[in-house]
Amino acid sequence: VDLKKLLKSLTIEEKIGQTLQIAPFFFNRDSEVEIFGNKTNTYLTQEEIFYAGSVLGIGSAEEMIQTQKKYLSKSRHKIPLLFMADIIHGYVTIFPVPIALGCSFNPKLAYEMARISAKEAQTAGIHVTFSPMADLTRDPRWGRVVEGFGEDPYLLQEFIQEIVKGYQGSNLKDEGVLASCVKHFAAYGAAEQGRDYNTVDLSRLSLYQNYLPAYKKAIDSNARLVMTAFNVVDGIPATVNKFLLRDVLRDQWKFDGVTISDYDSLHQIIEHGVAENDREAAVLGLNNGLDIEMASVCYTKHLKSLIKEKLLDEKLLDEAVYRILKLKDDLGLFDNPYKGASIENEIQFIKSKEHLEYAYQAAIESAVLLKNDQILPLNNIQKISIIGPYLTKKRTNGPWSWKGNQTDNSSLLDVFSNNQHELHYSKDCLNISELDDRDLSYLQSSDIIIVAIGEEVKESGEAHSKTDIKIPRNQAKLVELAKSLNKKVLTILYNGRPLDLSDIDNSDAILEAWFLGSLTNEAIYDLIFGKQVPSGKLVMSFPHNVGQIPIYYNQLNTGRPKVKDVHNEYVSYFLDAPNEAKYPFGFGLSYAKFSYTNLKLNKNKFTINQSIDVSIEVYNDSDYDAYEIVQLYIRDYVARFSRPLKELKGFKKVYIKANTKEKVHFTISKNDLTYLDSNGNEVYDYGKFQVMVGPNSVELDKLDFELIKE
Ligand code: GLC
Repeated sequence: VDLKKLLKSLTIEEKIGQTLQIAPFFFNRDSEVEIFGNKTNTYLTQEEIFYAGSVLGIGSAEEMIQTQKKYLSKSRHKIPLLFMADIIHGYVTIFPVPIALGCSFNPKLAYEMARISAKEAQTAGIHVTFSPMADLTRDPRWGRVVEGFGEDPYLLQEFIQEIVKGYQGSNLKDEGVLASCVKHFAAYGAAEQGRDYNTVDLSRLSLYQNYLPAYKKAIDSNARLVMTAFNVVDGIPATVNKFLLRDVLRDQWKFDGVTISDYDSLHQIIEHGVAENDREAAVLGLNNGLDIEMASVCYTKHLKSLIKEKLLDEKLLDEAVYRILKLKDDLGLFDNPYKGASIENEIQFIKSKEHLEYAYQAAIESAVLLKNDQILPLNNIQKISIIGPYLTKKRTNGPWSWKGNQTDNSSLLDVFSNNQHELHYSKDCLNISELDDRDLSYLQSSDIIIVAIGEEVKESGEAHSKTDIKIPRNQAKLVELAKSLNKKVLTILYNGRPLDLSDIDNSDAILEAWFLGSLTNEAIYDLIFGKQVPSGKLVMSFPHNVGQIPIYYNQLNTGRPKVKDVHNEYVSYFLDAPNEAKYPFGFGLSYAKFSYTNLKLNKNKFTINQSIDVSIEVYNDSDYDAYEIVQLYIRDYVARFSRPLKELKGFKKVYIKANTKEKVHFTISKNDLTYLDSNGNEVYDYGKFQVMVGPNSVELDKLDFELIKE
């Protein structure tokens, strides 16, 4: 399609229409699509509706075909509607929530999640997904940590890259692929107090070093859209922030895709206090680089008069509309406006055996064994009892899984009966007051008591921040009761954020099961009975208590570091809690016992364009074949800026057979040593560095090396 010619042929109303994104119920009142945000009662004329360029959410192939057909029949220009939706961790086949999937330390699994999500979502004619969320997260009070991949910029980038590739495949014109919209640009995860939508106030240094790299990685992986964040950056709402949308995105990163607001976020700059009204919001949006306005009508209602009155340059509108048309053309919509939408495909692809197998594998690799005082794996002769609210819950898909029907999921109880595994006793209960003497006698005669507890799905996700991240008191009492009976207790956690687990610390074993998707409890069952071996490791620190937040592993040393076992009052520490996390970044147990020896470098001096070979031997001193996630961290001792005590720069997930040893190799090269300064320029420093390798961010073998001038 000759896009320039098409653009020239459009009236100004038609051009402005392309920048509008509305929900499908404007086209058909009975749309069952769930939208996330207050339904703005915008007044749109029929003409404005049928000029719109894209649709937010769609429920099925039939609804998409009906909407597209109706739209095109009324359209003079015949430019197809673009359908976008939130496919975050699966469409109907639901994968573990992102924070869980990150704990697999297996970006290739994330690639498969994205590939499968695209294949399923395309059967409903969806063209774009508002995913991945590339927001770095350091504050578990924030409900949306469930949608991110944790606190480390390097791990986050590895996942973001694979997810964008998984969605977009090799050619956007192909059926079964989705254009990826990376979000929320920028630094939405740094909301103060972890309170959603709250102020973000970061130094440029932290913005460049910690928060921006993952969005850049998405763009370098050819993500075609960027969604702006609700929050301010440098006091200016991201949705109209010129520094972000033009200086960084267009000029520095050469992004030529489409920018889209978050839900109603252009209109909300009035609430932010940087525009008097929608008309002023429209000026700021177009001048500062916003292309599509989602679910509000500042552009629709005001751009025409602003351009006619020469208060806005029509060239800016043309540039925005050109990018939107280019995306539609790259997706092949002009050739096939109904691309992918097919009822036969819905039947063939959705929840196929292959898709469920990947979802199961992802669930297995995303669970994290936090504690195991020799009680796991369980066996089939033990008399096992289960109590707690998650005994019968099927709602285990987690937030943002609206098409994943939970009724098909198996509860923990279902899985035991599906395996013809007779439980000694079980009771779905929230409080110990629900347990009478009869119940207690059953518990008393058990060998093992499993307590299945955690958060409700709606306690994490958008607009669901919390100040108290402890296990709810009543649920902790179930664990205390079980322990009071002198029983071995396995606590299984279903939750969407790191929690303060101090009240259930006396569990003999704790399995962090997050929300593992469609096959949550099938995976849990196979893990606790040893059919599968837990391998997940945390991508976000679990604090001792909420007072430690923000807590993350890659902290600076400060000028008065707290040194272990050295008592000095005037150092950086708390009177009432340790500095360290309860369960640190990178931590997770296995049934296997891994030991690390012989950390070696092939040389201890090197110049910036050389590389260093690092090797370490990992011995699996157990009878279990198992995965181990070997992590490599680097420290830059002396630099222009104070640098973190350690930064993850590599990880290898190795399968080590029982009673064997593997030699694991890493290569350190220039981009492991450089960092960004406060202008976003890449810099490095000569001098001493340290390499650290181990099973998590705390238990590390260390060696120094030196970067010398050529
Ligand atoms: C929501 C979310 C965003 C989502 C969008 C469309 O408010 O912030 O992540 O993609 O609206 O549903």
